[in-house]
Amino acid sequence: MSNSVEIEKRRTFGIISHPDAGKTTLTEKLLLFGGAIQSAGAVKNSKIKKTATSDFMEIEKQRGISVATSVMAFNYKGKQINILDTPGHKDFAEDTFRTLTAVDSVILVVDVANGVEAQTERLMEVCRMRNTPVIIFVNKLDRDGKEAFDLLDELESKLNIKVCPLSWPIGMGDRFKGVYNIYKKELNLFSPNKTGISDDVKSIADVSSKEIDSIIGENPAAELREELEMIAGVYNPFDRETYLSGEVAPVFFGSAVNNFGVQELLNAFCEISPSPRGRESDQKMVNPDDPKFSGFVFKIHANLDPKHRDRIAFLRIVSGKFERNTFYNHVRLNKKMKFPNPTSFMAQDKSVIDEAFPGDVIGLYDSGNFKIGDTLNEGEKFMYKGVPSFSPEIFMELENLDPMKSKQLDKGVKQLMDEGVAQLFIQQPGSRKIIGTVGMLQFEVISYRLEHEYGAKCRFVPRNFHKACWITTTNHVMLEEFKRAKARYIALDKDDNLVFLAETQFLLQMAEQDYKDITFHKTSAFKLEV
Ligand code: G4P
Repeated sequence: MSNSVEIEKRRTFGIISHPDAGKTTLTEKLLLFGGAIQSAGAVKNSKIKKTATSDFMEIEKQRGISVATSVMAFNYKGKQINILDTPGHKDFAEDTFRTLTAVDSVILVVDVANGVEAQTERLMEVCRMRNTPVIIFVNKLDRDGKEAFDLLDELESKLNIKVCPLSWPIGMGDRFKGVYNIYKKELNLFSPNKTGISDDVKSIADVSSKEIDSIIGENPAAELREELEMIAGVYNPFDRETYLSGEVAPVFFGSAVNNFGVQELLNAFCEISPSPRGRESDQKMVNPDDPKFSGFVFKIHANLDPKHRDRIAFLRIVSGKFERNTFYNHVRLNKKMKFPNPTSFMAQDKSVIDEAFPGDVIGLYDSGNFKIGDTLNEGEKFMYKGVPSFSPEIFMELENLDPMKSKQLDKGVKQLMDEGVAQLFIQQPGSRKIIGTVGMLQFEVISYRLEHEYGAKCRFVPRNFHKACWITTTNHVMLEEFKRAKARYIALDKDDNLVFLAETQFLLQMAEQDYKDITFHKTSAFKLEV
């Protein structure tokens, strides 16, 4: 039997933003509309604190909460919506990049006052690499911010994507009256509303109607007409195909904390966003309606109880139907595995499921078999390509403080790396462990977890590297020469790939110039390029 009805129902996406733009608030309001939660405040707790906390219990607690809120599923207007949570804290950016491989589209939240911020740019780069369709929600219109036209220009130039406004703000801050929904030809009136879920909507197809003047006042109405005319002149009408191919991002304006613009965003999302898409594997493109089950692991979460080493692997289903207690092939290990307790994440409750379909994310209890990027399928040999590592930004050498515990330390480091907490590079001589991360917080997490879960003590000594580049070449003579000349900067990653640890941008450029036959890859996805 075909799974097409189930597949077509699903919408799997992530919400991304620079911290503080309103991602958590928007997520929460979407869940309210979807009936998945009853009151505001339920998601708030899941936020990793914005300051680098040294309170390890706090990290532990938040890890626990973030399992429950990593995937939030609910039904709305006949669709099953799966929101994949992405950590806002920049130290966990790598986690977010990986989660983006498991979504089919993205909603990007931008603060109207701050516009495009550093984190927004990096996240969008990842979306652009994968041609992920993006909808932009400009938030906090109840506050003064940038002019809407200026903001659209900024979005286009900084995010390297064309935009298409589907709603348009009428004033902002104290003078914010609402938005005109260009897509639906409706006037949505703003009234601050932090708890309810109803918008005041007036359907006005003809913007020249005097009714608008009587509702928002003559001057704002005239201004709105003028601006809508300009929009029609400057921006192409919305075209779903260009959105689906990731070339054009529709833009909505609103105020998440006031529940304003959220429902129209959700309604439009249900109409235009893509149903589950296929994924490229190393052998073929796998489509959701391929009858055989397949999926990949994009996130691994350690168990909170240190006495139990089991973990939860998050698997995104790409094709076919997943069934409980059925043997599947763990391709990397060439091992048959079945899962008696796969969990879904409907309405924040984890519950055991019997079956799941493309687009769904399920949690599999794992006793150490899975690594990020692993493929599970029905007896075929292919593996998904999807989950690249980016170069870390901070490098430290890990020193074992208790030689009696080196086995435990090695095991702990391996498992934490499998979870994707950080990247490990081994340098010779002496198999020195260089740990690379994008933020300092990970080092606190690693030493705390090594001590509490594996009984191993370590310390970190800063190493002054700028970037890790994966290197490949067909010129073996040149490679040997390079390895000799740069011996102190050569390492192997977890899969024994050669890595060049460049001390500065300049030295990296020099190496690229001097060794022209060697390619210096900025992500571990180089295997996909050859
Ligand atoms: P994040 O997940 O992207 O980091 O942002 P989050 O939703 O936590 O929002 C950051 C702050 O912005 C919060 O205030 C939140 O209430 C506020 N906010 C969200 N949407 C809007 C909006 O539409 N208008 C205005 N004016 N503010 C908004 P906070 O003071 O950090 O937290 P809280 O005390 O309000 O919970």
